[in-house]
Amino acid sequence: MTKVFQDDVLSGKVAFITGGGSGICKGITEKLMAHGAKAVITSRKQERLDAACAELIEKTGSECLGVACDVRDPATVEAALSAGLDRFGNIDIVINGAAGNFLCPAAQLSYNGFRTVMEIDSLGTYNVCKAAFDKCLGEHGGTIINISATLHYAATPLQIHASAAKAAVDAITRTLAVEWGRLGIRVNGIAPGPIENTEGMSKLAPGDVMEKLSKLVPIGRAGRIDEIADVALFLCTPAASLIHGHTVVADGGEWMAHSSFAMMMG
Ligand code: HXC
Ligand code: NAP
Repeated sequence: MTKVFQDDVLSGKVAFITGGGSGICKGITEKLMAHGAKAVITSRKQERLDAACAELIEKTGSECLGVACDVRDPATVEAALSAGLDRFGNIDIVINGAAGNFLCPAAQLSYNGFRTVMEIDSLGTYNVCKAAFDKCLGEHGGTIINISATLHYAATPLQIHASAAKAAVDAITRTLAVEWGRLGIRVNGIAPGPIENTEGMSKLAPGDVMEKLSKLVPIGRAGRIDEIADVALFLCTPAASLIHGHTVVADGGEWMAHSSFAMMMG
C-alpha cells in the first residue's frame, strides 16, 4: 500500500462507507483505517460485512463495525447510522459507494431494471447524505464523497441505467456542496475509470475485454483499487480543504480517449 500521508492523519475520525464490504470501497475503507480512522461499513449482506470487518481490522489494527442496510430504504440507513453513532460516538466522513450495474441494451432493459439501478445509485446516495445530515453532519460538519463514474460524460451504450444514475449522483454532489458548504460539510465525488479486480469490471468487461480495454487507456493500463483509495484519502484530509463540489476523475485518461465500451458495440 502506498503511504503519502502521515499514519495518523485521520486519527479521531469515523467514516461511514456504503458498499464498504467489497471492491473499491473496501479498499477505501482499508486506506482510511490505515490512517487512523474508525469505520462503519454497510451493504445488504451481513456475512460479507463480517468477513470484511475481520480482514480490515487484521490488516490495519483499527476498529470497524459492519451493519447491514439497503440504501434504497431510508429507515435501514438511519438504523445503520445510529448503530455507528452508538458504537463510535460520531461520524465525520460519509462515502457513498453502494451501486448496481449490468450490461443491457436500452431496448431490452425492463422498467424495473432501469429503476433498480437509479434507486441504488442515485436515491441511495441521496438517502445516505440526507440521513447523515440529519443525524450528525448537520450539527458538526464533515466530509462526503460520492463515488461516481465517467459513463455519462459522453455516452456509454448498454449502460443507460448506470449512466443516468451517476449523472444524478454528480448533480447531488454539486448541489449539496452549495447548500451545505457553509455548515462545514465538504462534498466531493470520485469518478473512477476501469479498475482491475472489481465486481464492476468483471460484470462490464468479461473475458478478455478487460485486457483489451486496459491497453486502450492512455496510461496503458487499468486503475487499481489502491489508487482510488488514495484519492479518497486525499479528499478526506485538510490537504483538500479547498476542493468542494468537484468530482475527481481518476481514470488514467480513459474517458477522454473514449475507448472503453465502444469496442463492445463492434
Ligand atoms: C438486464 C437485469 C440484469 C441484467 C438484473 N436485471 N440484472 N436486466 N440484464 N444483467 C433486472 C432484473 O430482471 C429486474 O427487472 C431488475 O433488474 C432488478 O433485478 P433484481 O435482481 O431483482 O435486483 P436486486 O436484487 O436489487 O439487484 C440489483 C442488481 C444486482 C443491480 C441487479 O446486480 C446487484 O445487486 N448488484 C450489486 C453489485 C454490482 O452490480 N456491482 C457492480 C457495480 S459497478 P425485472 O423487470 O425482471 O423485474 C458499477 C460500475 C460503473 O457501478 C461504471 C463502470 C465503468
Ligand atoms: P462492488 O464491489 O459490487 O460494490 C458495490 C457495493 O454496493 C457492494 O458492496 C454491494 O454489497 C453494495 N450494494 C449494492 N446494492 C446495495 C444496496 N441496495 N444497499 C446497500 N449496499 C448495496 O463494485 P465495485 O466495482 O467495487 O464498485 C464500487 C463503486 O465504484 C460503485 O459506486 C461503482 O459504481 C463505482 N465504479 C466502479 C468502477 C470499476 O471499475 N469497478 C468504475 C467506475 C465506478 P451487497 O451486495 O452486499 O449489498
